[in-house]
Amino acid sequence: MKRAATLLLVYFAFGSSVALCADAPAKADPSVGKQMVDKASCNTCHDKMMGGDGNRIFTRPDRRITSAPALTKMIRSCIAGTGASLFPEDAEHIAAYLNERFYKFESK
Ligand code: HEC
Repeated sequence: MKRAATLLLVYFAFGSSVALCADAPAKADPSVGKQMVDKASCNTCHDKMMGGDGNRIFTRPDRRITSAPALTKMIRSCIAGTGASLFPEDAEHIAAYLNERFYKFESK
């Protein structure tokens, strides 16, 4: 009986690590990106610049970002400005969110 339980444990441990591995190269997820933008208070700076509605920075007529790679790059440098504990890879999720909601570039 004990042995069966151990086997079961091993099975679950192994099974879930395989699941984790399968998730690793997951596609950038806009909903994850949105949570990050909210949590990292990205718009505290942008709010001040845009008179209260920081999101307007992404749609302003003279916006700086005109391509998907430029967007990811800008997000990386802005992440550095937040002091939030975001990883460089998180920029991909954030880019997916900002692109879906505001920029609407074709693809990367
Ligand atoms: C320390 C202040 C600050 C913080 C915090 C900040 N930003 Fe920015 N962000 C700026 C400034 C300043 C600009 C405009 C740069 C310019 O116009 O030259 C900007 C511009 C941008 C742009 C380009 C807008 C355009 O014109 O198309 C994006 C995208 C962006 N930020 C994303 C983010 C994200 C995502 C976060 C959170 C991870 C973030 N920013 C946090 C200061 C900040």
